[in-house]
Amino acid sequence: MSTQSDPADRAGAFRTKSIEQSIRDTEEPEHALRKSLSGLDLTVFGVGVIIGTGIFVLTGAVAKENAGPATAIAFVVAGVVCGLAALCYAEFASTVPVAGSAYTFSYASLGELPAWIIGWDLVLEFALGTAVVAVGWSGYLRSLMDNIGWHLPAALSGTNDVTGFGFDLLAFLLVLALTCILVLGMKLSARVTSIVVIIKVAVVLVVIVAGSFFITASNYNPFIPPPVRSEGGSGIQEPLVQMMFGYAPTNFGVMGIFTAASVVFFAFIGFDVVATAAEETKLPQRDMPRGILGSLFICTALYVAVSIVVTGMQNYRDLSIDAPLADAFKATGHPWYAGFISFGAVIGLTTVCMILLLGQTRVFFAMSRDGLLPRFFSRTHPRFRTPYRATILLGCVIAVIAGLTNIQELAALVNIGTLFAFVLVAIGVIVLRRTRPDLPRAFRTPLVPWLPIASVAASLWLMLNLPTETWVRFGIWMLLGVAVYYLYSRKHSRIRHTDAPPTGDRPS
Ligand code: ALA
Repeated sequence: MSTQSDPADRAGAFRTKSIEQSIRDTEEPEHALRKSLSGLDLTVFGVGVIIGTGIFVLTGAVAKENAGPATAIAFVVAGVVCGLAALCYAEFASTVPVAGSAYTFSYASLGELPAWIIGWDLVLEFALGTAVVAVGWSGYLRSLMDNIGWHLPAALSGTNDVTGFGFDLLAFLLVLALTCILVLGMKLSARVTSIVVIIKVAVVLVVIVAGSFFITASNYNPFIPPPVRSEGGSGIQEPLVQMMFGYAPTNFGVMGIFTAASVVFFAFIGFDVVATAAEETKLPQRDMPRGILGSLFICTALYVAVSIVVTGMQNYRDLSIDAPLADAFKATGHPWYAGFISFGAVIGLTTVCMILLLGQTRVFFAMSRDGLLPRFFSRTHPRFRTPYRATILLGCVIAVIAGLTNIQELAALVNIGTLFAFVLVAIGVIVLRRTRPDLPRAFRTPLVPWLPIASVAASLWLMLNLPTETWVRFGIWMLLGVAVYYLYSRKHSRIRHTDAPPTGDRPS
C-alpha cells in the first residue's frame, strides 16, 4: 500500500493520513458503508437533527433569564457563527467524503493528535447531546401522559432537583430503542426521519402562524431588557469572559444576548452531523454543501420567527422553562394548540436523538477503523452493513447517561465541545489549502483565509461566554483524551503501520 506521507513523519503525533488513503479505506468491503443518500436526504437529515431541544425547550429559559425578546437576536448571532463554520465544513466535507466529520477532516490536514483530540471532542458532543435530547423528549412525553392521567413514579421521572437523585426511565428506553433501529440500517432510519421531520416542521410552522395572531405588542417593550446584576452563585457559574475581564456579572443587556447565544447555540448543533454521513452520500461533492447550508438556513429562519412570536405572546418573565412553546399557547387560552405542539415535540425530538446517536457511532467507527480505538468496533454487519458493534456499545452507555443526567450543565458542555470542533475545522481549511492546493474541491470556502479566521474568532467568542465551570469540565475531558492517545492510540494507529496489509478487526 502506498502512502503520501513522509516515512520520517509517521511516528509523530502530527503525521497526517492522506486524503487518498482515507478514501481508499472506505472501499475495503468489510469496512464499507452503503452509499444511499441524496442532497435532499441530507437536508431532511439536517433539519431532522437541528430542530429540537434548543428551540422547543431552551428558548424559554434563555428569554426569561438572559435576553428577553432579544432572544431572536441571540439566534441570529448563533446562526451567523454556525454559518461561518458551515462554509468551512462544506469545503472539508466535499473534499474528504468519508465518515467521521471533523475528525476525518483534521486527520487529513492537521495531523493525528489534533484529529484524535477532535474525535474525542465529538464523542463528547454527540454522546452528551443525545442524552440531553432524550431527557427533553422524556419531559414532553411525561407532560402528554399527565394530560391523560398516566403518571410515572417520581423516582423514574428523571433527576429530582431537590434530592438530586432519580432515574429517567423513558429517556433510557428511548436511547435503547433507537440503538436497535440504527443497527438495522441507515435506509430505515432515513425513511423514518423524513416522516418525522415533516411533522416537526409542521408543528414549528403552526407555532409561528397561529401564534402570530395572539401577539401583544407591549411584550416587546423593552426589546433588549436593561442589564441586571446577577445574584448569588460563585464566579465559576458566570461566563468566563466576565470573570476574565472582571465585569460585575449581569443578565440581560447586550452581554446577555451573547450569553443567550452561547446557550441557544445548542439549537443549531446537527448541521455538522450532516457532514458525518459523507461516506454514505451518492454524490458528496455536490450534495454535502447543499445539505449542510440548506438545512442551516431553513432552521435559522424558523428559530428567529418562533422566538419573536413566543416572546410576543407572553411576557418573557412569564415564559415557562420546561415547555415554553406549548405553555405560551395555554397562557393565551389555547390549550388545544398546546397539546398538538407537545405531541409534535415528542415526535420531533425522537429524530434528533436518533441522528445524534448516528453521528456518534460514525465518528467512533472512523476512529476505530484508523486503529485509534480498538479495530474490533469498525467491523460492519455482514447483512445490514452498519457499524453494529460501536452502535450497541455506545447506545448502552448513552442510555445510562440519559437515565442519570442533568440536562442544563450537560448542554453547556456539548456547546463548548462543538464550538471547539468548529475552531479546528476552520484552521484545517486554511492548512489544507496550503498543504494540498491540488485537491479537487467541489465546494470552496469563500475569502480564505479571512472567512475561516472570522469563524475561529466567532466560535471562540461564544465559548468565552460559557460558564467557567464548563471550561473546567471540558479541560478535564480533553486531558483524559490526551492520556488515552499516548497510552493506546498512538501505538495502534493504522497509518503508523501503513506498510502492513489491512488486518480486519485486529489491532495492527
Ligand atoms: N440542535 C439540536 C437540538 O436543538 C441538538 O436539540
